[in-house]
This record gives sequence, structure tokens and C-alpha cells, in this order.
Amino acid sequence: MHGERAPRPTALITGGAAGIGAAFARALAAEGYRLILVDRDREGLQAFAASLGADTETVTADLADEADLIRVEERCRAGLDLLVNNAGFGHPTEFLETSAAAEIAMSRVHVEAVLRLTIAALPAMIERGSGGIVNTGSVLGFFPSSTYSASKAWVINFSQSAHTKAKPHGVRVTVLCPGFTRTEFHDSAGMNMSMVPAFLWLDADTLVKAALRDWRKGKALSIPGWHSKVITALSRLLPMRLILRIHAGGGKGSRAVRAAAPGGQR
Ligand SMILES: NC(=O)c1ccc[n+]([C@@H]2O[C@H](COP(=O)([O-])OP(=O)(O)OC[C@H]3O[C@@H](n4cnc5c(N)ncnc54)[C@H](OP(=O)(O)O)[C@@H]3O)[C@@H](O)[C@H]2O)c1
Repeated sequence: MHGERAPRPTALITGGAAGIGAAFARALAAEGYRLILVDRDREGLQAFAASLGADTETVTADLADEADLIRVEERCRAGLDLLVNNAGFGHPTEFLETSAAAEIAMSRVHVEAVLRLTIAALPAMIERGSGGIVNTGSVLGFFPSSTYSASKAWVINFSQSAHTKAKPHGVRVTVLCPGFTRTEFHDSAGMNMSMVPAFLWLDADTLVKAALRDWRKGKALSIPGWHSKVITALSRLLPMRLILRIHAGGGKGSRAVRAAAPGGQR
């Protein structure tokens, strides 16, 4: 009807109350998106949603919990314009010193939740021929350094294949690979990042601005920051033998590489 406003697009963001997820929420709220923020700390989630002052729904859910994940899947099936699979965390210890339950929780959040929420959201987007998904991987997903990096390698590989399937239908799937980004992530994982030089860090709002730009351009891979692009290129250029030696501590820069790998420190 003449003069009727177009409905506002809806975005669901996991890990949407802190760090990179909160930066997605700020950017998308400013663009007029209706937001559904998923996070596991109810109070933090509600306080952040209120601070946005936008039309924001909150879903308190631990994505490693089956019943909670089912609730979020249902929310995705109800129809979204953008899904941001972003929740994630690291362990302070290597996998042999971490309980199997804690490792399984990580793979449920980084792998199973990303897979199931994508399967829940993507068919309706393909049917409509619009919308898309941003999955948060990591520059570390290009290096074999920890269970964390292994789970992020899965996110990168899976997202690129989802990109190929969705693209002919006008649906954009992008994997965002952050390098060092200033958030609560490293403190939560008990990591000391003091040896990482200041110039290697990006702030979350700058990272997300670049990610959304790449998503709109229909890129499969978004690697914001020149330093992250160089590090990622090295993963393709250097022989695997050398990469493994650097990670094991036998090469220059090995301390920074280990610092960047949750659960990969010694
Ligand atoms: N920061 C970096 O340098 C960096 C680099 C590469 C990739 N990444 C990736 O970027 C993503 C966002 O991380 P960030 O840096 O923004 O970290 P962050 O500040 O710690 O935020 C992560 C958010 O995800 C939530 N979350 C964690 N586990 C969850 C679960 N089981 N269920 C629901 N929510 C959960 C956290 O909730 P709690 O506060 O309750 O834990 C937190 O709100 C992650 O996937 C991370 O692996 C970060």
C-alpha cells in the first residue's frame, strides 16, 4: 500500500552481548535491524539490550546445552534476514590437560551450534532468495595449533561450502576470520597477551564494519586488517613442517603464535 514502510530486517546474533557479537549488534541496530541477541548471561544480555535502545529481543541460552540449542534453532526457523554465528571461547590449557567434557562443550558451540543454526536458517533464505549468514572463524583456523584452531578450521571450511551452495540463490554466506581483537575473549580464556604488540590488535567495531562490508559484497572470506591478511597468507606459503616447528617453539615468533592459540600455550 502507498506510504507503507518496508518491514525491518531481523538479525540473530549468538554471543551477542559482548565483544565482537556486541559490535555486530551496535552496527546492525544503527542500520535499523530488529535484533535477537543470544547469550548465556541473562543479566549482561538484558543490560546490553537495554543500552542499545533498539527493538531488541533477548534469548538466554547456553549453546552447549541441547534444550537451549533447540530453542535457538526454533527462533532461526521462524525466519531471519541475517544469522551471525559468533559465540565462542577458548580454554586456558592444552587438550591433554582439559577435561573431555570441556572440549566437547567447545566443539558443540563452535561446530554443532554453527551447523544446526545454519541448517535451521538457510533453507528459508534460499527459498526467498535473500539474506545470509556470517560465521565467526579465526585466523588461527588456518594453523594447526590447538583444539580451538581445529574447531575454527571446521567453521572456515564449512562456511565456504555453504557459501557455494547459497550463492546461486542470492544468499550470502561469509566466514569472518578475526586476528587479535580487543574483547573479553583472552581474559575469559586466562591468556596473557602482553607479548602481542599493540599494532597487531583491531578493535571490535572496526573489525565488524569490515566484515559487514565483505558480507554485502558477497565475499566467502573476510579477513579484516593487513596483519591478519599477511598471517593468513603465510599459512598458505610456508611449508607445514615449518609451521609446526614455530608452534612447537622452535622458531621466531613462536611465543606470539602460542599466545594466540587458546589451549596451545606452554
Ligand atoms: N577476540 C579475538 O581476538 C578473537 C580472535 C579470533 C576469533 N575470535 C572469535 O570471535 C568470537 C567472539 O569472541 P569475542 O572475542 O567477542 O569474545 P567475548 O568478548 O568473550 O564474547 C564471546 C561471547 O560469546 C558468549 N558465549 C561463549 N560461550 C557460549 C555458549 N556456550 N553459549 C552462549 N554464548 C556463549 C560469551 O558469553 P560468556 O561471557 O558467558 O562466556 C560472550 O558473550 C568467538 O567465536 C571467538 O572464537 C575472537
